[in-house]
Amino acid sequence: MADVVTPSRRSVLKGAALAAAAVAVPVRVFDAQAAAAPAADGIFGYGVASGDPTADAVVIWTRATPPQRHAGDPVAVPGSGLGQPLQVLWEVAADPEFRFRVRQGVVRTSPDSDHTVKVDVTGLSPYTRYYYRFRAEGQASAVGRTQTAPDEPGRLHALRFALVSCSNYTGGYFAAYRALGQRDDLDFVLHVGDYIYEYGNGADRYGPPELIVTRDGVPATETIDLAGYRLRHALHKADPDLAFAHRRHPWITIFDDHEVANNAWNGGAENHTPGTEGAFSTRRQQAYQAYLEWMPFRLPDQDQGAAPHRGIRFFRRFGFGPLGDLSIVETRQNRSPQVNVPPFTTVGGGFIPTGIPAVDAQLADPARQLLEPEQLGWLRAGTADLGRRWHLIGNQVVLTPVRFPGAVLGLPPQLTMLNSDQWDGYQADQAALITHLGAQPASAGDVVVLTGDIHSSWAMDIPASLTAPEAAPVGVEFVCPSVTSDGFYELVRAALPATTPAEAVVAATQNITAAVAAANPWISYLNGVGHGYTLIDVTPDRVQADFYHTPRPTGALPDPRIVPSTQLTHAASWQTLAGSRRLSPATSPVGLRADDPTENPEHGRPG
Ligand SMILES: [Fe+2]
Repeated sequence: MADVVTPSRRSVLKGAALAAAAVAVPVRVFDAQAAAAPAADGIFGYGVASGDPTADAVVIWTRATPPQRHAGDPVAVPGSGLGQPLQVLWEVAADPEFRFRVRQGVVRTSPDSDHTVKVDVTGLSPYTRYYYRFRAEGQASAVGRTQTAPDEPGRLHALRFALVSCSNYTGGYFAAYRALGQRDDLDFVLHVGDYIYEYGNGADRYGPPELIVTRDGVPATETIDLAGYRLRHALHKADPDLAFAHRRHPWITIFDDHEVANNAWNGGAENHTPGTEGAFSTRRQQAYQAYLEWMPFRLPDQDQGAAPHRGIRFFRRFGFGPLGDLSIVETRQNRSPQVNVPPFTTVGGGFIPTGIPAVDAQLADPARQLLEPEQLGWLRAGTADLGRRWHLIGNQVVLTPVRFPGAVLGLPPQLTMLNSDQWDGYQADQAALITHLGAQPASAGDVVVLTGDIHSSWAMDIPASLTAPEAAPVGVEFVCPSVTSDGFYELVRAALPATTPAEAVVAATQNITAAVAAANPWISYLNGVGHGYTLIDVTPDRVQADFYHTPRPTGALPDPRIVPSTQLTHAASWQTLAGSRRLSPATSPVGLRADDPTENPEHGRPG
């Protein structure tokens, strides 16, 4: 592919967006009433959500917009700081009719939390399904469904969840989220980052031009402050497909860069301009505040166990009995600046050449960190735990080393590139973790890394060493496709003449991904065309990943993301067998679960 690119990740990932911006950029002024429209449906117009399930607790969430009592009262639009405090009743029951209530209470919300409501409901039974709702001023929210974790000592249960990332609102309709809502077999949804994007609707718009006006961001400009991030989160919570997926399953989430700004590090971001956008630390604090308000995330200060950490402790671990555990890592807050190699990248990292001694020395510098040492130590301890069969890691950026031949990026063929925003850009931490994993005895179980961020579907062995290719891999990594954000296909399409048939763009994309896989023989599967999600199914014998994708683009429909009713289909399945620490093909998508969470209306006392 000839001239795909300026080589930074941002430029690569935004090629199509810039092409879109060239087509038409209607100037739109922020419209508070439009932003408030979902709330006009009632006090609970932003839906309900639940998250961070443990054996005996789950967080339930809503936003309660106070009604206008008198003409002229301010509308408590998200981010406005307006509106009166409100008392909200919450209820958790064993049945969807709420005949058997098991917990209830009243909480007060106010503009201090943007009228969001979050309750950490405790004292629940393990591996049990519950229903919840909120009430205020004579109105009731939708009924949400949730469940506690299958985490009982000595007891094996089924474990199945969906892995998602990168849901750019202006990038398309959330068909993947609708598909998750339709599934009845998930314990939870795992979102590993880029739940929102910070871009506006102007020259920085990111997504297909067909959706300009019909699916715009709110606010219309880049989110840089508390009001902006709150509004962007509210926009997502008002999306019907996303609201459906939240209502149907608990979620476990962690942010990546775009919840703040593109390619963030501990002191800045590629998409942050201190001169006009203020101090990065202020912006990040406000972005985190909005994230914690609007996501069903257990507040860090309520988390049990005070592992040593720096800043806010976002990393945490969930258990699933003897079957396994899931460590959620957080790789942005404390990371050192990315390595930049002008003119390839100047800030925030991206594709840089490797094999240059001065660059390689920087990449391997042990003083540079992706995770703070306290978190890396916590992660290493968790993956050495002898009491659980599988150690899953929910992770933002790709751990496995990947080298890109220059030619596939439109660069001179003698160049070998890597993405310095991934673990590849922090090779001391990368090597420390991989070496640690390789040193674990069989009795410590096996590791499966679950990743997002790169808008494409991958299944890889994690090699013990790039210099000793004969060494056995240390585990496997599955990378989910984006929900909507531009992937390889969109980049290739933007780089080719506009008249290129979609079938030819698909073929060119497949040539590129095949070349990447050939250059990295530990890659078993790489798809750069589909958007969707990855189903992860865990049994004592294996972990299987089923990839579900949007339809392959055609001349009749070159961008399936723009169709609200798009349906996903099964694309591929890979697995890793217990003890193998490597991938093997799976013959078909997973079947029925071995067991299901308890759903028993008799469980609670009549309420
Ligand atoms: Fe992303």
